[in-house]
Amino acid sequence: MTTNTAPLATPPTAPAAAAAGTWQLGDRTVNRLGFGAMRTTGMPWDEVPRDRREAISVLRRAVELGVNHIDTAAFYFVPRRSANELISTALQPYADDLVITTKVGPSRPRDGVFEFEPYARPDQLRGQVEENIRQLGLDQLDVVNLRWGTGLGAADGSVAEHVGALTELRDAGLLRHVGLSNVSVAQLEEARAVVPVVCVQNRYGLTDRSDDGLLARCGELGIAFVPFFSMGAAVPGAVPGSNTPDETGAEAVAAVAAGHGVTPAQVRLAWTLHRGPHVLAIPGTGDVTHLEQNVAAAAIRLTDDDRAVLDAIAPAAA
Ligand SMILES: NC(=O)c1ccc[n+]([C@@H]2O[C@H](COP(=O)([O-])OP(=O)(O)OC[C@H]3O[C@@H](n4cnc5c(N)ncnc54)[C@H](OP(=O)(O)O)[C@@H]3O)[C@@H](O)[C@H]2O)c1
Repeated sequence: MTTNTAPLATPPTAPAAAAAGTWQLGDRTVNRLGFGAMRTTGMPWDEVPRDRREAISVLRRAVELGVNHIDTAAFYFVPRRSANELISTALQPYADDLVITTKVGPSRPRDGVFEFEPYARPDQLRGQVEENIRQLGLDQLDVVNLRWGTGLGAADGSVAEHVGALTELRDAGLLRHVGLSNVSVAQLEEARAVVPVVCVQNRYGLTDRSDDGLLARCGELGIAFVPFFSMGAAVPGAVPGSNTPDETGAEAVAAVAAGHGVTPAQVRLAWTLHRGPHVLAIPGTGDVTHLEQNVAAAAIRLTDDDRAVLDAIAPAAA
């Protein structure tokens, strides 16, 4: 006689993306190793858009591996692909723990040219927030970054009115939390006087240390610092419009990578995660193998010697 027995319980294993720990974005908890969706569409200078099925596979695999923080924007599109639409198609119904961070401020011409103009007036931010809500199929956005400026570096000017407008949208229930992108320390302080800021997303990496001070200030304040282009300097095609990698420090990075049996891109990601527990990674890719490598970087533990070598590649900003 046979009896039915319950299957042996398998011990719960932490997902790969959790290997670097978690961080709070307001009331939401995310694994520090996340995902940037900009590359899922391909870039405007690519000859053909990214393969749609592969982009969807990348997004689903990311979530399978425990990624629960995805960065996107309505302005991440090429003529035949939209990052928000791909996310919605790939991941609906969304897992309860998934946090999707979007950005508002810049617009882009519908022909897909990569220009972040015109910049929204404060009263135009509601339309941009609503556009993200519609495209993602949500009722409320988790985190909305005011993405300041039309270039890639921090831009001048007061952010107060725009942050005030986002605060009104938060109070109206269209979004939960406000973040910033491409800002200076002074602009962070200005925004904090208006609303709690949960994250700051600026360009930063092993060979791009100009925001060391901002990263440190975010750490003091318990605000997530979310670098973009953290692998960019090492990877062909990562700098918009360019296929020329920055080779600064490539030999040293390769040596550290060889010591761990990983790739230089993984070392660059690991280095950012070692900059502080409040640093979140959002590596971008449209390639499943790269995605798996990027998530695996959460488990890399750099030694003090590794870090000394890597820290010396580019001067720390004052
Ligand atoms: N706030 C802002 O102003 C701003 C600006 C830019 C980006 N972002 C956000 O930040 C995210 C990250 O930026 P990003 O995607 O431009 O740059 P990134 O993550 O530094 O690097 C992406 C580039 O690296 C390649 N790559 C990814 N993983 C790799 C790996 N394991 N090995 C080798 N190459 C690899 C990608 O190509 P493949 O696709 O072929 O893998 C792509 O060319 C974006 O996706 C976006 O969500 C924000």
